[in-house]
Amino acid sequence: MEKIPCLDLKGQNQQVKEEIFELFEKVFEKTAFSGGYFVEEFEKSFAGYCESNYALGLSNGTTALHLAMLALEIGEGDEVIIPANTFIATAWGVSHAGATPVFVDCNPDTWEIDATKIEEKITSKTKAIIGVHLYGQPFDIDRVKAICDKHHLFLVEDAAQAQGARYKGKTVGSFGEMACFSFYPGKNLGACGEAGGITTNNEAYANRIQSLRNHGSMVRYFHDEIGYNYRMGGLEGASLIVKLKYLDSWNNRRRAIAKRYLSEIKNDKIKMQTQPDFADSVFHLFVVTTENKDDFCQYLTENDIIPAFHYPVPCHLQKAYAHLGHKAGDFPNSEYLAAHCISLPMYAELLDNQVSHIIAVINKYE
Ligand SMILES: Cc1ncc(COP(=O)(O)O)c(C=O)c1O
Repeated sequence: MEKIPCLDLKGQNQQVKEEIFELFEKVFEKTAFSGGYFVEEFEKSFAGYCESNYALGLSNGTTALHLAMLALEIGEGDEVIIPANTFIATAWGVSHAGATPVFVDCNPDTWEIDATKIEEKITSKTKAIIGVHLYGQPFDIDRVKAICDKHHLFLVEDAAQAQGARYKGKTVGSFGEMACFSFYPGKNLGACGEAGGITTNNEAYANRIQSLRNHGSMVRYFHDEIGYNYRMGGLEGASLIVKLKYLDSWNNRRRAIAKRYLSEIKNDKIKMQTQPDFADSVFHLFVVTTENKDDFCQYLTENDIIPAFHYPVPCHLQKAYAHLGHKAGDFPNSEYLAAHCISLPMYAELLDNQVSHIIAVINKYE
């Protein structure tokens, strides 16, 4: 069998290349390379898809998180609660705004932020909680929202990994003040290039983000505040218009593969993320844990399955955050995951026989 990579974008690209190239022609005709018509068309479609009033196209998911913090007037001296088990960019959004990320351990089964450990981290400086729909699975939004309401905190969704995921039947993207998305090429909805975005139901936030992403300007050459160049490119917008049409079918294929992994992998040595009833995941990643990660990894590789690791170092132990003074043992569940996680191949174009091979190999692991 040919090697099965953890992620392979070639199959998806083949499927949509012609349609995207046709739209690229139109971007060239209109010379709409930065923001403009195609980004606006994508924004309209994506807002509708997320059942949100507004969608704002941006340069990437990290700038989305940064602007979400700025739109909420979060800055120096403020604290924002985030899970320790996430991709580091969740924390960057907070730090880039000048605020301090305050980490909370994950639940040992769902691997998402542990709602029972949030309140002990709230201080007079806390302004918001960023919940992360990790690996494509919505966190328990109602529980976290109840804490936000009780303590007058903003809720922001980091939905970078979860385009199309549903919480209690509703698509993610409009549960908090804002939701931040990444359209990095490898995401479930990935641009041909770097891109990101924010959805919100709040007109004031939408206007502020529109200004901040465009040099603090709503009227050309008039700058109301110090702004950024965080616009989405026209080619990226055009590629997303095409790919959004396929997102549900790609997500459903991921769900079908995940269903097979969940029901057919029968090996006590392998643990998987618990799937609560409220969450309809889009399985951006399929992460498992096992006691001897190196041994399992070598075994998979010998059997032509190439794993990946999301993420090998939890946020609080990253060198970049050494100044916060955390140490090993502070967040044991996140640290366990970091030391034991392995991501299995997961993308819509995986073939049934490849999925069967992966399952059979894992079931024989001793
Ligand atoms: C959870 C999470 N948040 C934020 C980001 C940042 O997105 P980007 O890479 O587009 O800046 C990513 C993706 O990389 C992510 O996985």
